[in-house]
Amino acid sequence: MRTPVIAGNWKMYKTAGESAAFVKEFLPLVAGVRGVEIVLAPPFPSLSVVASLASGTNVGVASQNVHFATEGAYTGEVSPPMVKDAGARYAIIGHSERRQYFAETDDSANRKVKAVLAAGLVPILCLGETLLEREAGKTFEIAGRQLRAGLQGIAAAESRKVVVAYEPVWAIGTGKTATPEQAQEVHAFLRGILKELWGVGAADGVRILYGGSVKPENISDLMSNADIDGALVGGASLKANAFAAIVKFN
Ligand code: PGA
Repeated sequence: MRTPVIAGNWKMYKTAGESAAFVKEFLPLVAGVRGVEIVLAPPFPSLSVVASLASGTNVGVASQNVHFATEGAYTGEVSPPMVKDAGARYAIIGHSERRQYFAETDDSANRKVKAVLAAGLVPILCLGETLLEREAGKTFEIAGRQLRAGLQGIAAAESRKVVVAYEPVWAIGTGKTATPEQAQEVHAFLRGILKELWGVGAADGVRILYGGSVKPENISDLMSNADIDGALVGGASLKANAFAAIVKFN
């Protein structure tokens, strides 16, 4: 069985001090949780402080982005080995806000997934359709293209280290969650593609998270679906109580 992943994406919220205060409040709330991988993705300046406070606990740390090079003259960028050194074990890649505001493409997401795996980190590859694309009946075409392109050249042997997050853009930060049926339908479709790419056994081991207005009130219904293996949570991960309630969805 797949161990669920519940990841909090803080986006551009929380100073290092605010991040530390969150972790101190959050750790005792989830200390007893077993069988769930809990992940916090703070902004870069908070990575080290969150990682050192969470070290030795059941909470892991992710970066929200990385560059695909190991080092170089790329002003303003941060590399996979750097976030790993700061204590991250995961890296969110290709989030729709990166695609929308920072010109990320399927190709850059793919390069980043490869760089993240090479650094020994777990990529959380994000994908999902916009409202216009859904209304035009292109959900499967878009999500399928983003998945295939993002994972291009990744061998089945690496599949266990890959996490996928389906995040319909129209559901992010809007309060409009996909229904569990809408999410499950896309997740099952994505797993079908993973089976084509990597074979049934490998595809069955990949965690596919749902993201988009996940809250304590809707997590259980989402998690009751066969192919929904966790959540990538934005707004509701900023409050320790709310995020702990999501982590304890069972
Ligand atoms: P949201 O964000 O939970 O605030 O909708 C999800 C995300 O962007 O990962």
